[in-house]
Amino acid sequence: MTTANQSLKPLTTKINENGHIEIGGCDLVQLAEKYGTPLYVFDEQTIRTMARQYKEAFKAYPKVSMLYASKAFMTKSVVRILDEEGFGFDVVSGGELYTAYKAGADLKKCLFNGNNKSYDELQMTVELGIGLISVDNFLELALLNDVAKSNNKKVDILLRVTPGIECHTHEYIQTGHLDSKFGFDLTQTDDAVELIQDEYKNLNLVGLHAHIGSQIFETSIYYDEVEVLLKEMSRIKDKFGIVMTHINLGGGLGIKYTENDCPPSVNEIAEKIISSVKENAPKYNMEEPEIHIEPGRSIIGTSGVTLYTVGSSKQVPKGKKYVAVDGGMADNPRPSLYQAVYTAEVANRPDDEPVETVTIAGRFCESGDILIKDIQMPELKEGDILCFYDTGAYGYSMSSNYNRVLKPAAVLVNNAQSDIIINRESYEHLVSLDVIPQRLEK
Ligand code: LLP
Repeated sequence: MTTANQSLKPLTTKINENGHIEIGGCDLVQLAEKYGTPLYVFDEQTIRTMARQYKEAFKAYPKVSMLYASKAFMTKSVVRILDEEGFGFDVVSGGELYTAYKAGADLKKCLFNGNNKSYDELQMTVELGIGLISVDNFLELALLNDVAKSNNKKVDILLRVTPGIECHTHEYIQTGHLDSKFGFDLTQTDDAVELIQDEYKNLNLVGLHAHIGSQIFETSIYYDEVEVLLKEMSRIKDKFGIVMTHINLGGGLGIKYTENDCPPSVNEIAEKIISSVKENAPKYNMEEPEIHIEPGRSIIGTSGVTLYTVGSSKQVPKGKKYVAVDGGMADNPRPSLYQAVYTAEVANRPDDEPVETVTIAGRFCESGDILIKDIQMPELKEGDILCFYDTGAYGYSMSSNYNRVLKPAAVLVNNAQSDIIINRESYEHLVSLDVIPQRLEK
């Protein structure tokens, strides 16, 4: 069975009677007219389907919790949807924690994660009573113990470790290899455990946490990751008598950005994880653990598209043809940051035959602001609406106001209804945090 992350387009995508692309029963051209462009559009059905496919895939192993990696795209409505689907949230900042809290997420099902959490963030985490904290380093062990102590609490923690497993993805989004800024090296865990046992009495070590990387297509690394963590927990049990019960495997499952991408289904990943637990728990003399997984991209990525309006174009004599759209690297930095490749279609005439190869450029003042290099397109005209697929993850969440361009709106579509979930910024928003000191006033 295929799962939603293996689809290039949101599951409800079709060409409607107007000859336009439609998602969630909404005509994209009409959405562009109603809300303006650039516009992020999220298909609720694709999000919910993928969330349910995750749960279904792990049905054979009841001790699993799903935590959505909020960094992929977080807004209060997304929290509501995934909370309804039974997900908790992996948060990595006070801002993400606050969003989960304000949207009414069950904070007991949440985990705070990150390599340099501030004292204030730890304080907020402990005060709000988040379920688990993944401690990344020695400084944090000390800070968190202080915070917990001053709140008269004992907090459950995981230790984030680098399992030394490499995956084939862009080097910026690999995290589980040894030379990584995240987590304890496995040669440092003994010192950490000793400190927890002897000094940090307000910390309760319940498990280990790792994340190997993102946009992963290999399944075997999940098998290996489970084994490395169980083996390490077993070693710690033998040496310190501390019995840990949880493993958090991070996220990472890839999605299909182009026809050439063949990510595995979530079932294949689940099968590797479960079989590794079944084989390795007895091998290392451990109980079968509680498993946490933290998918981000694979939950939200496929559900989201971005709509742009075509503006100017330039034919370089004897060179490329550039067609510019009204967004670019500020609403989607992934092409310039990771050389990420996207698929796009003309929303107002998707059936038109491609006739030329063009490069889709953004509107930002940088030559590197190219969204797609060399894509086959019908002859594009000013006013055409382009639909970029698979922009749901790490698009809005990494967007900026570069060039003081306003951040786009986001809408949620479902059953022919569209609702704003993030307002478009206004120029007033943009200047609202600026302050002119009195001596510079006119
Ligand atoms: N858990 C941890 C500890 C993580 O660091 C991440 C992602 C996830 C879960 C979720 O991974 P996912 O399921 O989304 O692959 N900005 C990059 C991706 C950075 C991922 C960082 N960590 C991109 O646009 O490709």
